[in-house]
Amino acid sequence: MEILAFGVQADEKPLIERAFGDHEDVRCLDVFLNEDTAPIAAGYEIVSTSVNADLGADVLEILAAGGTRMVAQRSTGFNNVDLATAERLGMTVARVSYYSPHSVAEFAWALAMAVNRRIVRASNRTRDFDFRLDGLMGRDLHGRTAGVLGTGKIGEAFARIAHGFGMRLLGWDVAENPACAELGMRYVPKDELLARSDLITLHVPLMAETRHLIDAAALKAMRDDAILINSSRGGLIDTAALVGELRAGRFAGVGLDVYEAEAGLFFLDKSLEAVEDDTLARLVTFPNVLVTSHQAYYTEDAVGQIVDTTVRNVLDYREGRRSENVLVPRS
Ligand SMILES: NC(=O)c1ccc[n+]([C@@H]2O[C@H](COP(=O)([O-])OP(=O)(O)OC[C@H]3O[C@@H](n4cnc5c(N)ncnc54)[C@H](O)[C@@H]3O)[C@@H](O)[C@H]2O)c1
Repeated sequence: MEILAFGVQADEKPLIERAFGDHEDVRCLDVFLNEDTAPIAAGYEIVSTSVNADLGADVLEILAAGGTRMVAQRSTGFNNVDLATAERLGMTVARVSYYSPHSVAEFAWALAMAVNRRIVRASNRTRDFDFRLDGLMGRDLHGRTAGVLGTGKIGEAFARIAHGFGMRLLGWDVAENPACAELGMRYVPKDELLARSDLITLHVPLMAETRHLIDAAALKAMRDDAILINSSRGGLIDTAALVGELRAGRFAGVGLDVYEAEAGLFFLDKSLEAVEDDTLARLVTFPNVLVTSHQAYYTEDAVGQIVDTTVRNVLDYREGRRSENVLVPRS
């Protein structure tokens, strides 16, 4: 029976078709799953969804009414899925609990280096044959302090690179990671990390306890010349409060691969439309801010692993096997 995959990027399509190969037929759609597109899934027992899919109660109800029994989410984060409703509807949900953490950690570093050394502004200038250095001064990171909020797989990969740069490491997490401690990371309370770090990077999942982890008070606790990087989930930062601090001229650099209102914007071409989101519109005007559209995971290696695991999750569902990827088991 055919599987329906929503939110498939052009680069991703051949990988998905190849990975499902002999196992299953798959129909790939570039539209994302939401209330408007959910009826397309009628008659499909299994749907696969991407990171910005809306898997809230209303959409799950539409899927269940159409006969969908399994959702194979092609991401690690599952903050977009109403698991309680899925369970009530008897719908199996699986995710990809592991893929290359280096994809995201290396991208977080790309943002950190780009904002610290003003790479985008420099590139724009040289394209215009403006070769001045004014306004391009950055700072050595060697000997400075990196604060890692969330020291799981991606936080650890980030910390290893920071260690290679010769940075001091501070960490904050509900559970200490011995591999980070071995790198010399010192676990401290969040406020101490924020106050002492030159570079702050977020790698905790988005959940009720972590929503607006970086709120107005946390932003105030940060140094005026700090660099803030978020490649985890947009909802970790109170963006309106961040804009307020940026307006006051704070922070050496802010690199955001995620944005709390990204659904309906990121992964889509909105270049010919009037911008409705004033917060995002203001955010991208700051010279010390760099915004990318949730591409940290987007390497051949990580996407390949995501797709292979998704195929395995589907086969596990078919054959009634459990794995660490199952969020709501088959009832
Ligand atoms: N931008 C992207 O393309 C992209 C891609 C993959 C993952 N992500 C995000 O990165 C996040 C981290 O991924 P990972 O693979 O490192 O996950 P992980 O589970 O290995 O690590 C998460 C860490 O956060 C900690 N944590 C959980 N709840 C916490 C809380 N309430 N307070 C403090 N710490 C808490 C955990 O103890 C763990 O150490 C994901 O949840 C996802 O949101 C983003």
